[in-house]
This record gives sequence, C-alpha cells and structure tokens, in this order.
Amino acid sequence: MQYTANTLENHWMPFSANREFKESPRLVVKSKGVELWDHHGNRILDGSSGLFCVAAGHGRTEIAEAVHAALLQNDYTAPFNLGQPSSFELARMITAITPEDINHVFFANSGSEAIDTAIKICMAYHRARGEGQRTRFVSRERAYHGVNIGGVSLSGMVKNRETFSGVMPNVVCMRHTWLDGNRFTPGQPENGAELAEDLQRFVDTYGGATIAACFVEPIAGSTGTLVAPKGYLERLREICDANGILLVFDEVICGFGRLGVPFASQAFGVTPDIMTMAKAMTNGAQPMGGIAVKDEVYDTIMNSAPEGAIEFFHGYTYSAHPAACAAGIATQKIYQDEKLFDRAAEMSDYFLDAVFALQDIDIVTDIRGYGMLTGIDIAPGAAPGVRGTKIQKQLFHNGMHVKFTGDAGIVAPPFITERGEIDEMCAILRTTLEEFKD
Ligand SMILES: Cc1ncc(COP(=O)(O)O)c(C=O)c1O
Repeated sequence: MQYTANTLENHWMPFSANREFKESPRLVVKSKGVELWDHHGNRILDGSSGLFCVAAGHGRTEIAEAVHAALLQNDYTAPFNLGQPSSFELARMITAITPEDINHVFFANSGSEAIDTAIKICMAYHRARGEGQRTRFVSRERAYHGVNIGGVSLSGMVKNRETFSGVMPNVVCMRHTWLDGNRFTPGQPENGAELAEDLQRFVDTYGGATIAACFVEPIAGSTGTLVAPKGYLERLREICDANGILLVFDEVICGFGRLGVPFASQAFGVTPDIMTMAKAMTNGAQPMGGIAVKDEVYDTIMNSAPEGAIEFFHGYTYSAHPAACAAGIATQKIYQDEKLFDRAAEMSDYFLDAVFALQDIDIVTDIRGYGMLTGIDIAPGAAPGVRGTKIQKQLFHNGMHVKFTGDAGIVAPPFITERGEIDEMCAILRTTLEEFKD
C-alpha cells in the first residue's frame, strides 16, 4: 500500500493537522511492549502509553485472546433490560479497587461519554432528592473533560471551546492550580490549597443550593500534569459536603495505577461521590469508559423510581460491549497478576528523577510530575503551541512518541517500562529539546 495523500484523504483525523499529516504521515504499523514501529520500519519508544491508555504495554496477548474468545462466544447482546455475564464480572473487579463506598459502575465507551454520563447522573440524583434547582456545574480553567457537549461545557481549554458556541449553560470555572512559585516541584506542591476557595466564592455568589456538582481532574493531565496542591482536594471535599454539592473526580488519566495506586482518590486520600474512568481500563485495547458512584448516589436514583420502572433513562448501544468487557477483565487480571500498580509506584522515583533532570535545558520552563505521569513545559516559540508541535514531530523522528498539548509535553510511559528504557527516553528528550535551543 502506498501511504500518499491520495490514499489518506478519506479519513478526517481527530485533533490533527490533517493537511500537514497527509503530506508527511507518521503511521504506526506495529507495537509491542514499550515499542512502536512506523511504516518505514523505524523503532519508536512510546513515552505517553499511546494516550495514557497502554499501562501494561502494547501487544498483550492475554487481552487479544480474551477479546477473540468473547466475540466467538457472544459477539453482542442488547444492553437494555438484557445483559451478559462479563459486564457484572468487570464491574465487580473495578469496584474491588475503588474507594470503599463506591460500589456501582455504569459503562460507556470513552472518557467523553463517561463525563457526559456523570453530568446526567448528577442531574438525576438531585432531581430524585427533590433538588432539581441545582442546575449549575463548577469546573476549572485548564480542565479537559473530553469532547462531547457536556465535557466541552466543562472544558477550561480555549481551543476546545471557542468554535463551539452552543454548549451547556450555567457552568463556572475555578482558577487552575498552576502557580509560578511551584515551578519544578515533583509531587504535590505545598502552595495553592487556597485556590479551592474559588468554589466557596461560587457558593457565596450563586447560592450553594443552586450548584449540582464540582468536576475536577485530581491531576489535570491533558494541559500538562498539574498536580493538585496539598490540601486543595480536601478543601473542595469540605465545601461540597457543607453545601450538598457532588464532587466528581475525572480519573480518566489517573485511574488504574498511573499514580502507583488504583485511583488518584486513594493517592490523595479524598473520596469523591462520582468518578469517571476510561483509557487504562482496557489497556487501550478496546474503547471503554466507566462512571463509578457512591452507594448513596446509586440508591437515591434507584429508590426514586417506581417499582419495576427504568431508573435512569440513559445508556449506549455499546454500553458494556462483550469485547470491551473481555478486554477490561483481562486487563484487570494483568494488573493484579503482575502487581503493575505497585510497579508504577516503585518505578516512580526513578522516572521522576530522570525527567526532572531535564530542567537544565534552557527552553524547559517547568516540570511537574507524580507517579508515572509528568508534564514538561517548553517556552513558546513564535506563537503558543508552534514550538511544541514541532518538538512533538521531531521527537517521533528521533524515536519517541510524546503527547503534546500546546507547548506542554506529557510523558507517561507504560508501567512495564524498564529503567534502561526510561534512560533512553530521557536521552531522546534531551537531544531533541536541545535542538530547539533559543
Ligand atoms: C481527564 C480526561 N477526561 C476525559 C477524557 C476524554 O476521554 P476520551 O478521549 O476517551 O473521550 C480525557 C482524554 O484524554 C481525559 O484526559
């Protein structure tokens, strides 16, 4: 097959510079472990676990075989008022690692669907309690909650919002948690807990009883790994509790071991009412998202509906698809059998030290990190994002895949990455970043 603009034209690619890409495509044709190969046969290290999904490494035969077997056994079951066993099994496995009273999972097909479902769960919960007047949602600057209309409404990223005018009303954004004085701080910064008072200000301005929920990523991943400052999430929890506001953690990136424990909630010791998840749920091998809720949220919605009635008028044709559930179960088994969350925790210091050692490069303006997740800020070039995009391409050319958002590179390799591979990745990062010196 010829990889030319002609043959690539028909696929409108997501979040991509389509015209530029099709002139000069970067196509991955094979992947195994931490390695990818492009269509020229070049080897590339996967420094971002794809898009933070492939925690157990690429090409896991256990997952492929489980999906294959599931499709041969039962390829599809209508998920409304009908079921198939593997969704219940996967929900049991997931709730075994969620915080204690989060025991119910709704299945979706992506992080974006998980977010929009979580918004609807919040609405349904308040309505069931006779508090349907809670129509306001709180989010945060620099938040990324996917691309569906609910998630875009919560978005704190201008490029993801400005084209799309008709989003959900009544969303207000707290300030983001990046602070100048916290540059080059690994782990949770000491300073910044007071930024949680923005939620209190919304309570004081709009009335706590008008606010349905506060959505936050415990670590804002897509905008470059902004780790919640010490005390920040605790304070959000307090304000939510005092005002009947649901606290939702978007764990789409943090979930399934990225921080060395199952969820960010456990890493930071704060339990939300609802958590969204996706990505590493299936090791990226099948599309899947999930929304896990506290017993109280589930029970309130269940008990408000008449006996025998549908309690929540929401669901997807592919909710809990057998292939996705099979991939999810096989993935959870790998995490357990290989103790991969522990491995992420053990490897974290080495990984963070190696990435933070890049701070002497003159165009590196900040580095942040926690667990197996780091963000590297690059001084912008002619316009925001221009240099980041060039660096991302050059990194690929030099043998490493890194997800960039604007001028922030997010380095988050699979948990199975060996020390030598971390060294190799950081050497490629250094060489490449030095090519872009001012
Ligand atoms: C925190 C967060 N929420 C939601 C999403 C959306 O997930 P998806 O791309 O699977 O729709 C992402 C994707 O990167 C994310 O990082």
